[in-house]
Amino acid sequence: MVDDSTLFHIAERFGTPTYVYDLEAIRRQIVTLRGVLPDADLRYAVKANPCGTVLRAVAGAGVGAEVITAGELERALRAGTPPERLLLGGPGQDRDLITRAVEIDIGLVSLDSASQWELWRDRPIRSTRFLVRVNPGLDPRTHDHLATGAASSKFGLPRAEATELAADVAKVGLLAGFHVHAGSQVSSLDVYDEIFALLIDLYAGFSDLALLNIGGGFTVPCFPFSGFAERVVAFAERFGLRIVIEPGRSLVAEAGVLLTRVIHIKEGERRHLIADAGMADLLRPALYGASHPIRLLGGGRGEPRAQDLDGPLCENADRLGQDVLLPVVDRGDLLVVGEVGAYGYAMASNYASNLRPAEVVVDGPSIALARRREKPEDLWRLEGG
Ligand code: LLP
Repeated sequence: MVDDSTLFHIAERFGTPTYVYDLEAIRRQIVTLRGVLPDADLRYAVKANPCGTVLRAVAGAGVGAEVITAGELERALRAGTPPERLLLGGPGQDRDLITRAVEIDIGLVSLDSASQWELWRDRPIRSTRFLVRVNPGLDPRTHDHLATGAASSKFGLPRAEATELAADVAKVGLLAGFHVHAGSQVSSLDVYDEIFALLIDLYAGFSDLALLNIGGGFTVPCFPFSGFAERVVAFAERFGLRIVIEPGRSLVAEAGVLLTRVIHIKEGERRHLIADAGMADLLRPALYGASHPIRLLGGGRGEPRAQDLDGPLCENADRLGQDVLLPVVDRGDLLVVGEVGAYGYAMASNYASNLRPAEVVVDGPSIALARRREKPEDLWRLEGG
């Protein structure tokens, strides 16, 4: 990881709040994942961190991309991902997005509904092959917002409808297999046992399927990758399938930190550290109650005590951490919020006309600004009047 003196230097040079990504850490994660699943086809879920420099590093390591919007598709292409290494998913594929995907002869498409297939079926399809997304209707034991595999969620199709759609696609020779994404921050291997129990019948019903896309969603930190690999490899071998995975968070989360400076301290019932970063820079604590490791840059002195790390905006949810154990913190000190390389900047907003942070990339000895901090004029640049 990026050492403390480099982080001090980055805060000095680029200001705060600033996201810092360690490209070598991302490359190491790719190597680790390939070690666990050597034959799998990796498609990075671009939504986790769409920063151009990060995407170029991922594409440069030969990892494909999972995209769900026109913006993600263009970003991935721009970063050098070849069209055949792109997988288009998501419930919102519309005519324009499909037209563009056909034009580039995209490699894989995950169909979320029969209605999507209606928009695809009459297109001049060349190399594109299709997966049918199954809703496994299970409890992925994660936060409600992240439980995309729950029966009540909008994603994929229940078994009977998935079989019907798959049969339609197979009829024209374009079916590659099925896709299941159980949810995000999934940590229990039982979830996969349930998924494979469901997939057996689906795969047994079709011959000559080539792929199994088991999604992403591996929790950070400490997903039990070897137990996962055992299960997915056993299933894939049984049906002669190549495994596709769509990791987002597990490739980039731990490679990113958010540097923020304490601008005020208030004592009262609780000790509030008012920082220059809040929910508009890092939404996860407010939206999911997520807890990110927070530390004082450079260590510190004194007994650790519980303190709240609050943001600069005007609502209670504008908070990065509650009861965080920190040593003595003074005004002007720098704090490091960890595990924010995924869904950090990606979900930052201009709420309250917040100026989104800078993104800095460290690659060995090189330190580079990947995206500058926004200026007030960026806020109205797109306005007509
Ligand atoms: N594949 C599909 C079909 C997905 O929907 C997702 C994430 C992924 C792969 C990648 O999942 P990952 O490996 O990153 O967990 N904003 C939330 C996460 C939402 C994830 C949505 N789908 C958060 O901050 O936790």
